[in-house]
Amino acid sequence: AGVDDFLTRLPKVELHLHIEGTLEPELMFALAERNGVELPYADVEAARAAYDFSDLQSFLDLYFLGMSVLITARDFHDLAMDYFRRAAAEGVVHVEMHVDPQAHLARGVSLDTVMQGLISASRVARDELDLSTAMILAFLRDQPVEDALKVLEQAGPWLEHFSAVGLDSAEQGNPPSLFREVFARAGQLGLARVAHAGEEGPPSYIREALDELDVCRIDHGVRAVEDVELLERLSDEGVVLTVCPLSNVRLKVVDHLEQHSLPRMIDAGLNITLNSDDPAYFGGGMRDNFAACQRAFGWSDETMRWLASNAIEAAFMDESRRDALR
Ligand code: ADE
Ligand code: ZN
Repeated sequence: AGVDDFLTRLPKVELHLHIEGTLEPELMFALAERNGVELPYADVEAARAAYDFSDLQSFLDLYFLGMSVLITARDFHDLAMDYFRRAAAEGVVHVEMHVDPQAHLARGVSLDTVMQGLISASRVARDELDLSTAMILAFLRDQPVEDALKVLEQAGPWLEHFSAVGLDSAEQGNPPSLFREVFARAGQLGLARVAHAGEEGPPSYIREALDELDVCRIDHGVRAVEDVELLERLSDEGVVLTVCPLSNVRLKVVDHLEQHSLPRMIDAGLNITLNSDDPAYFGGGMRDNFAACQRAFGWSDETMRWLASNAIEAAFMDESRRDALR
């Protein structure tokens, strides 16, 4: 794609991104070298070749392995800057990043280290790239609820930097309702709530996230199409869905993009946004996700503008910034 094409120039807002999922093999190898960390891949090409997933868990295994090279605040700064520069170059103007503190704490990396690096990178992004950012404190749903509560308490000094809490990692068998108390506490602390639901898990998890976690956005939500009443509710309430098309293909949520339920979701009146999830692992950033969908579904430029606009309206950003992007 040219740097001047319609989809690159279209100002895009990313609402569903895991910052640890932006770690490209090149940087992974550079940081492994810098920190003396062993990787199980011979080289960059071997790492990319290993990114051949059969489901969410097979991805998560390599995602947690890859982040083992992130040790210092400078590593987190470099991780985020590397991504912000790529995102800005493809026309992304605002990024909301999930952060997985538990994945770092478990390796002996402190929350201070993570936050110092991500906050300094966010400042550079704003000042040098005109890219605004927000952070989402994500809980690993396959870990004990008590750990999530502990992380929320530990995040106290950094709370002003977070817009919301989120819920990610292995979905099946780990329903949203387990985290009711954690999310209620986050609400009391003034944080918004979002949760992954209906990626691999059933439509009932989407209902639970709405009813028990009081979320304002559903991350993925693609399995909502299996439940007509749920579709109607999502449409009536205008719930924002952060759909990640290339992620869904790579994690075999769907066989081919052409079979994705996105067109049906739009027909059902849902408030859809397009996002990249873990671009370093799924073979494409925001522009690639927009381009792949436009090609697969034959969407007009007007539809692409509508999708981008939905994300601007749903973002955790100052009203002055939102006005500037409208
Ligand atoms: N963590 C990073 N990417 C994820 C995804 N797509 N689903 C659940 N947890 C994740
Ligand atoms: Zn995700």
